Amino acid sequence: MTIPETIAIDGPAASGKSTLGKRLADAFGYLFFDTGVMYRAITLVAGQKELDLRDEAGVSALAENTEIDVQNPSREDGRNCDILADGQDVTWQIRRPEVEANVSLVSSYQGVRQALTEQQRRIGLRGRVVMVGRDIGTVVLPEAQVKIYLDASAEERARRRCLELTLRGEPACYEEILAAMRERDRFDSTRQIAPLRPAEDAIILNSDGMDADQVFENTKIIVETRLSADHITDERS
Ligand code: DC
Repeated sequence: MTIPETIAIDGPAASGKSTLGKRLADAFGYLFFDTGVMYRAITLVAGQKELDLRDEAGVSALAENTEIDVQNPSREDGRNCDILADGQDVTWQIRRPEVEANVSLVSSYQGVRQALTEQQRRIGLRGRVVMVGRDIGTVVLPEAQVKIYLDASAEERARRRCLELTLRGEPACYEEILAAMRERDRFDSTRQIAPLRPAEDAIILNSDGMDADQVFENTKIIVETRLSADHITDERS
C-alpha cells in the first residue's frame, strides 16, 4: 500500500536533505519534518541530565519519556521551526559540536530508535508530509509515495558544512569537519538497526556540483511526475 502525498528524503549528513525537504514542503503545501532533530534533542537532553551516553538502557528510557515537539517558528532568527524538548526551546542547542559528536551513538540504540520511530510514523501516516532522515524510506515510512535518496561526496558535504558555520560566525576547520563527516557516515551506514541506505525503490540523486536551486528544480520535476502518474493510474482503476 502507498500512502498518497508522502515524500521521504534520506541521505548522509549535510547532503542538503533539509534544504531540499523544506523547499519541497513549501512548494506542495506539505508539513516539513526533519527527523534528525529528534535524535539530536535526545542527545542534548541526555547531556544536560549528565547521563552516561554509553548507558543504552538509560538513554532509551529518556527517549521514551521525553516529549519532542516541532512547531511553527516563534522567532525570526533563521530557524525553520521551533524544536521543543519537554517544553524547552532547544532549536539552536541541538546544533552544538557536543551533540554532533554523540548523536550517532545515541541514534544507534534500539530503544531510542523504537521510541522515536513510533512518533515519526504517527505523523507520517497523516500524509501531506515531507519527511527527512536516514531510514524514512526503509523503516519509518516504507509506504511513502515518493522516495528520494540524496547523496553527495564527503568532500562536497564538508565544504558546505564549513560554509554554513562560517556564515553563522562559528569556527570551522575543513579537515576536522571532513574527518568527522566520514566517521559519522561509517557509523550511520554500518549500524545494526536501520542503517543508512537507499530503499530499493528510491530515486538516487547525487548533488555534487549542483547548487540548492538546481537540486530543488530537478527534484520538484521528479516528484510532480510521480504524483501525477499515480493520480492518473488511480483515476483509471
Ligand atoms: O540529519 P542530522 O545530521 O540532523 O541527523 C543527526 C543524527 O541522527 C545522524 O547521526 C543520524 C541520526 N538519524 C537517524 O539515525 N535516523 C533518522 N531518521 C534521522 C537522523
